[in-house]
Amino acid sequence: MKRVAILISGGGSNMLTLLRDMAEGGYARPVLVASNDPAAKGLEKAAAQGIPIAAVDHRPYGRDREAFETALAERIDATQPDILCLAGFMRILTPGFIRRYEGKMLNIHPSLLPKYPGLHTHARALAAGDQEAGCTVHEVTADLDAGPILGQARVPVLPGDTEDSLAARVLAQEHRLYPQVLRRFVAGDCRPVLL
Ligand code: GAR
Repeated sequence: MKRVAILISGGGSNMLTLLRDMAEGGYARPVLVASNDPAAKGLEKAAAQGIPIAAVDHRPYGRDREAFETALAERIDATQPDILCLAGFMRILTPGFIRRYEGKMLNIHPSLLPKYPGLHTHARALAAGDQEAGCTVHEVTADLDAGPILGQARVPVLPGDTEDSLAARVLAQEHRLYPQVLRRFVAGDCRPVLL
């Protein structure tokens, strides 16, 4: 069975939906939830489900991203994952780290890529007057938020939307999309899931 490691930085709601879907579907096994923030709320939630967790605080490494990533990769590799899912992991990764996990690293991003790579996606969609927003799961390549798209879900932007209301509507779709993409990816199927 495929072994899946998940990287988070915060609450981990996407991580939890992946754990639930793997438990229900039995198609892959979560072997690690790791965070760059030891205080990430998602770590406790994963531990409460009996999933091994690791925290590698990026702060002591300062600007030395590679040293941080080496420490993180050691913890990841000790669990021998076949697939790495970034789920609200908020550190930019160096090309070296990305190469190490090439072809097996997925990310979820809260916009309809190629629109709005980077941060503040919902504010940017609102400022642009977009009628539609959404989320994307893609393979991670050296270009930030620009790897092959494995799935997208769309939501309407409604009159009176704020950044928070739009983020909540998109997040609900993230929770539908990511497990479906993971299931396909585990099966070796890279056709995009379109919701
Ligand atoms: C999600 O909306 C995810 O798409 C976003 O962070 C949130 C994490 O929520 N990721 C990024 O912005 C990556 N650049 P969660 O911790 O509840 O899953």
